[in-house]
Amino acid sequence: MTVQELQKLFVEVYGHQEDAVYFAPGRVNLIGEHTDYNGGFVFPCALSFGTYLLLRRNGTKDVHFRSVNEPEVLTVALADVTTPLAKGTWANYLMGVMTQFIKRGVEFTEGYDFLIWGNVPLGAGLSSSAALEVVTAYALNDQLGTGYDRTELAKIGQMAEHEFAFVNCGIMDQFASAQGRKDHAIFLNCDTLEFDLVPVVLHGIKVVISNTHSPHKLGDEYNDRVRECHLAVDQLRTVRPGLKNLAELTQAEFDQIKDAITDPIALKRARHVVSEVQRTVDAVDYLRAGDIEAFGKLMNASHVSLRDDYEVTGLYLDTLAEEAWKIDGVIGSRMTGGGFGGCTVSLVKDEAIDEFKEKVGKAYTEKTGLKADFYIAEIGDGAKKI
Ligand code: GLA
Repeated sequence: MTVQELQKLFVEVYGHQEDAVYFAPGRVNLIGEHTDYNGGFVFPCALSFGTYLLLRRNGTKDVHFRSVNEPEVLTVALADVTTPLAKGTWANYLMGVMTQFIKRGVEFTEGYDFLIWGNVPLGAGLSSSAALEVVTAYALNDQLGTGYDRTELAKIGQMAEHEFAFVNCGIMDQFASAQGRKDHAIFLNCDTLEFDLVPVVLHGIKVVISNTHSPHKLGDEYNDRVRECHLAVDQLRTVRPGLKNLAELTQAEFDQIKDAITDPIALKRARHVVSEVQRTVDAVDYLRAGDIEAFGKLMNASHVSLRDDYEVTGLYLDTLAEEAWKIDGVIGSRMTGGGFGGCTVSLVKDEAIDEFKEKVGKAYTEKTGLKADFYIAEIGDGAKKI
């Protein structure tokens, strides 16, 4: 839909024009997976697709939520926005964000009419939910003049996800949606939240996103992984008191003390995290030095580690990545985001893109019975007012 079409729909639904229109993007992570909640590095970019939000102050004590994808307007009294609706209700994301403002001392004196539309494929691991949280936080910050910076808006989105979607996610997705910059990736230290914007200059190469359309969505497994990493830290503290995060350990330090992790699953999870943090640092160095081939090899190694040690890939993502590796013009390919279903991200030479889509698509359908979708990613800006 276009912004004009959304504005027209807003008038049809609410009988008034909107006060303002906002946008926040989805993201794709190039490398640094399942490191964010371990205090490690990530390297995501914002995409050109995302979520649009139109709003108007309505002078009542009710908040109205309407999504283009849902037929009904949901009404929640202002006094009730701090109580989540049934698990999975989409308006929870907006209510979760409003609740974070309230927790920071902001008072809502009147309700809003909201209209939402997004073009991030849902459940594809491209952060449609973070886009919704961040667009809401950005819009309310602008409307209320609360003056939170983009990092704070990302934290607001993350806490909304924890408290209203019950996923104990790291900061990466909301950060990328809030801080993204066109044609740049964000090299983010998730412990300190310091970051660098690194130009993604690819000559004759595209970032290709391949969607598994897998029925297996990321669920409780995510919170299980967070717990397993905490267990590893707890056990390592017996030999390294004061250890805060797995990402504090270099590979050499980890190798010295890893036997303190007696739980075999926690040991595998920790091994992934420690190695992935190093891969991310190295990959960014290679990209800065223009060595894209070396960057691609680390993407492949990241996938292998996520497959074998972190165990968040599965048939769908493994098939897409492993079929991609067989093609000459593929520089690198790996799962991106939380895992299980969702998408892979690949760097593909321009002249190999048709072959990539055809061969990977065909092999994927043969092995899984599903049809994959391919998008050429455009790296866009973070949240903004339109
Ligand atoms: C999901 C979470 C992120 C991050 C990734 C894995 O997208 O929301 O915080 O942990 O998984 O890297």
